[in-house]
Order: sequence, then structure tokens, then C-alpha cells
Amino acid sequence: MIKNFLALLIMITAILITGCSDNSSGEKKVAIAFPNTTPSWQRNGDSMKKTLEEEGFKVDLLFSANSDEQVKQIDEILDSKPSCLVIGAIDGEAFGEVLEKSKELNVPVIAFDRIIKNTDAVDYYASFDNEAIGQAMGEYFEAALNLKNGGGPYNIELFAGAPSDNNAHLFFKNTMQILDPYFKTGQLVCQSKQMNFDQCATADWNSANARTRIKNLLSTYYNTGQALQVVLSPNDDIAGVILEEMKSRGMQKPLISGLDADPAAINRIKAGEQTFTVSKDPDLLTSKCVRMIKAVVEGTQPDINDVSTYDNGVKVIPAYLCTPYIIDAGNVNSNS
Ligand code: BGC
Repeated sequence: MIKNFLALLIMITAILITGCSDNSSGEKKVAIAFPNTTPSWQRNGDSMKKTLEEEGFKVDLLFSANSDEQVKQIDEILDSKPSCLVIGAIDGEAFGEVLEKSKELNVPVIAFDRIIKNTDAVDYYASFDNEAIGQAMGEYFEAALNLKNGGGPYNIELFAGAPSDNNAHLFFKNTMQILDPYFKTGQLVCQSKQMNFDQCATADWNSANARTRIKNLLSTYYNTGQALQVVLSPNDDIAGVILEEMKSRGMQKPLISGLDADPAAINRIKAGEQTFTVSKDPDLLTSKCVRMIKAVVEGTQPDINDVSTYDNGVKVIPAYLCTPYIIDAGNVNSNS
């Protein structure tokens, strides 16, 4: 009798101990915290969830509208001790404190698409080659405007993404490295003279902010028939509002960039309204990230192809960077 009681006690203790150290039920749960700011994040989130569930993971997919909400969501979800936490950061510098908790709980962290700065709690980074995205935009303009052979002068206005997102800085910097010489020769002319990142930024990537800015630019600098021939737009969402505002004033459509291959942008490219978009194939990034998650959860070494670019201020985050590609009128039908 006493022997049986002792055996039972040992069993219960064992279950409790295993339960505590193994996410309370032994299931492999992945927590994903994404912004809900643009359509591409919804697509990324849904695609991640579907692929992970097919791989046998349980998935908590959380969306948030602002950085405070996102940090709070992460703090709460960490209490359930997921096997891995994947973050698409709203503000890449806001996670110092909450990720101390992930470290204490031994929850591995993967930064998705956007780097997380100033913390050593991030283990890996899965993204696109963000420098290449900026370069691709600059090179497209350079070729389409025949700038190398003296094309121009063309009026151009510049838009950038959110200051809180490292990607936005990389896109803008790499595009401007290509365009800069042509401002010096006068082949490109920015009538507003708003040419540094802060002047061109779009807070929170919110297209309503870009709409306010393009309205001001058009009514201040293009109100007496001047043509605006080129616009650098950092993504499709913002390109959409710029095109709407120009169209509503009866202006000629400009040569305009985009990013994300949003369905709306694909339609605009087909209709000859938007010039091009840079595609960050969500299935590609998702599949690479899922492989990374599996390796992290299983304690093996994930696939990495970059160990030098993404210094987050505390350490260089080992990364897998996927290759983006351009979609324009020339290949839009084979990409939709
Ligand atoms: C992503 C873009 C996206 C933007 C707004 C950036 O970090 O790289 O693909 O359009 O955020 O959500």
C-alpha cells in the first residue's frame, strides 16, 4: 500500500516537473507577433501559421497596431513559454526589457523581416536582402530614365518608410547611393529639396501620413503645371495613395516604385499605373523561417547565409536573407 502510494507520488512529481520544463503540455508551440499595418504582414502571418501547422506546431499568431501593444502582447505570450518566439518588430528598438524575460525563460527569438536592435536576446534573423531592395529600386530608375547616358532633367520626389524600422533606412540609403550622382549633375531635380531620410520618412509606414505629405508637396511645388515625373515610394501601400492623389489632380502618372507585390499593386502594374514593385515572395521567406524555427526547436544549426550585415548594436545576428525580384509590365503576367 505504502509502496503503491510512493510510486504514485513519484509519477505525479515527474509529470509536474516535465510539464513545467516542456511548455506545460509537451506541445511545440510557436508564438508569432506581427504588425497589422500593411496587407503584406497579414499575408506573411497567415502563410507562416499555415506552414507551421502543417509541420505539427501549434501557433499563436498575434497582430498589433502599435509598438506598446506589441510589447505587451509579447510579455503576455511569454508566460505560456512557447518553444520559439518570432517577431516582426513594429519598433525595432522597443524590445530590450521584454526580451530579458525571453532569455530568463530560455525562449529562442527569431527576428522576422525587420531586425531587432540593442539586445542580445535575438538568436536569428530571417529576412530579404534589404540592401538589395534599395539598390534594385535605384537601378530601375537609373535604367528607365537612361541616366547613365545623360537622361533628364526629371523632377523627382522621395518617400521613405518608418524611422522605427531599420529596413526603411536600408532601402532609402541604398537607393540614394545610386541616385545621388544624378542630383549633382542636375539630371534629377527634387523641387521640394526634401532629400534626407527624416524629411522623406512615413511615420509607422502609415499611408495616411504619406497622403498628407504628397498633398502638401503637390500643392506647394507642383501647383502651376510642373510635371512630377518620378516618385520613389518605399512600398505598394504608399505608392497607391501617391498615385491616387496625382490622378485626382489630373497629373500624368509618374515613374513610381513599390515593394511587396501587393495584389492591388499587381493590378496597377497591369493597368499601366504603377511602374514596378519589388517582390518579397512571402512563401519563400515563410519556408526559410519555418526551417529556422524547426532547427531552433530541435536544437540543431539553422541555415544561415549572412553573418556580417546585421549588427544590432550589441551583436551581429546570424541571418538568412532571401533574394527579392522586380515585377513590372514586362513580367507581371507570369508573376500573378
Ligand atoms: C517591410 C516592407 C513593408 C513595410 C511596411 C517593411 O519592414 O520590409 O515589406 O512594406 O515594412 O509594413
